[in-house]
Amino acid sequence: MSDNLQIVTIDGPSGVGKSTVSRKLAALLDFTYLDTGAMYRAVAYGCKQAGVQVEDEAAVESLLLEMKIDLLPPASPGDDVRVVLDDKEIGPLLRTPEMGMLASKVSALAVVRRKLTLMQQAMGKAGKLVAEGRDTGTVVFPQAAWKFYLDASSEERARRRVDQLRGRGEEVVEVEVLAQLIQRDRDDSERTIAPLKAAADAIRINSDNLNADEVVAKMLTEVEREQG
Ligand code: DC
Repeated sequence: MSDNLQIVTIDGPSGVGKSTVSRKLAALLDFTYLDTGAMYRAVAYGCKQAGVQVEDEAAVESLLLEMKIDLLPPASPGDDVRVVLDDKEIGPLLRTPEMGMLASKVSALAVVRRKLTLMQQAMGKAGKLVAEGRDTGTVVFPQAAWKFYLDASSEERARRRVDQLRGRGEEVVEVEVLAQLIQRDRDDSERTIAPLKAAADAIRINSDNLNADEVVAKMLTEVEREQG
């Protein structure tokens, strides 16, 4: 591990609990938490605000030149990373099913991936980072010291997402959430550039029967084992 960066990567499909687990693990290790999905969601949000179609690569490219995205540490420990677009905090507006689908579309564009991957790598230079997303172990930080691939069945993931959305007071139909989740997984796995996949050297964890704390405990054991 001495040649590797002190970086933990956590990849996996949508709704698998990566954010909860990453945030907890980062707090325990005293590492910075990097939510790469929030960056794709911020670009999607920026496109929507500007009336730019996410399929129109040339238009997205010129918008990207003007866009200023910053990730700031959470306001208090355990809170979400703060996403700032053009000096406006937009984090709470990004965690919607619509932004998830739009982010998935925009994330297939080479120009978007190039910009965000470089920003993510710059944040990883100092090490001590927990990065979560779809390609953090394969493309962004192939030299990370610890890589995890978190998975769960689509039904279980849809159930959790429904609970989360209902907990926020939103009305949702479970079969629609499941259909969207399956669609997004397919799009994210089948795209040409940096598709969702486990790095060859990632440790796979299935969370169908594990809660977030149990997943974090497993990860912590691996990190501590390889540190010593
Ligand atoms: O993790 P999330 O649901 O916030 O991610 C939203 C979308 O962003 C996801 O469907 C695909 C894209 N994404 C990506 O392509 N690469 C990443 N490293 C993270 C997210």
